[in-house]
Amino acid sequence: MYFVELNKTIHDRKSFDCGKKELNDFIKTKGVRHMEQGISKTFVLIDDEISKAKKPILAFYTITSQTISRELFKKQNYPHYPIPVFLIAQLAVDKTQQGNGIGEVTLIKALEHLLQTRKYMEAVAVTVDCLNNNAEKFYKKYGFQDLNTLQSGRKRLHLPMKSVENLFKNFDKDYRSNKNKNRNDKKISEKLTITESTWKRIRFSFFMFWQ
Ligand SMILES: CC(C)(COP(=O)(O)OP(=O)(O)OC[C@H]1O[C@@H](n2cnc3c(N)ncnc32)[C@H](O)[C@@H]1OP(=O)(O)O)[C@@H](O)C(=O)NCCC(=O)NCCS
Repeated sequence: MYFVELNKTIHDRKSFDCGKKELNDFIKTKGVRHMEQGISKTFVLIDDEISKAKKPILAFYTITSQTISRELFKKQNYPHYPIPVFLIAQLAVDKTQQGNGIGEVTLIKALEHLLQTRKYMEAVAVTVDCLNNNAEKFYKKYGFQDLNTLQSGRKRLHLPMKSVENLFKNFDKDYRSNKNKNRNDKKISEKLTITESTWKRIRFSFFMFWQ
């Protein structure tokens, strides 16, 4: 399994079903178009062992950047203009895969991706707009905090970029001292060949940090 940029000739967008129409519609009709238009980028989780002409999409995330009002960040001495943030615009797991840790993996991969982007372009936080209460609970479990604002009726949360940075910076230390190795990590991480060999350690460090 690995994450790769969405490609309509290779990936089976039609069969994806996370149970939420809005997200299903996005991957089916908007993901590719938005990439072509320079609006956002979408990455999909694929299992190469599935031998179908078009690869089923197990999960996906969509990222982009935006600016938000400085007033939303209390106690920060930010300049008097809109503040740059990254946005995880979409994140979903196919119904057949939900409850196996794939959502967590997808979120980590999206955060790692945005952290790498930060080498070239700054942003103060990663934001998400929660589709519903469940999405809010999911993100808050990983440290996202309220921004006390709604975006198109959705509650907006954020995770400071410094927190993301520290998380990945400390993963080695956390892994060495980690005693929390009894989760179902093996099930997924052993199958995942996500670019870096350190992936498993990063995942452990998330447990250390946020649980
Ligand atoms: C929300 C979603 C991404 C979670 O993916 P998943 O693969 O089922 O989640 P995981 O198995 O990785 O679970 C990770 C953790 O989040 C928790 N979690 C997952 N779904 C949750 C939900 N709906 N509400 C509260 N917590 C949830 C799990 O309990 C788990 O914690 P645990 O290890 O302590 O048990 C997935 O259910 C989904 O795609 N839902 C529909 C689309 C959606 O709502 N997307 C959210 C972005 S707006």
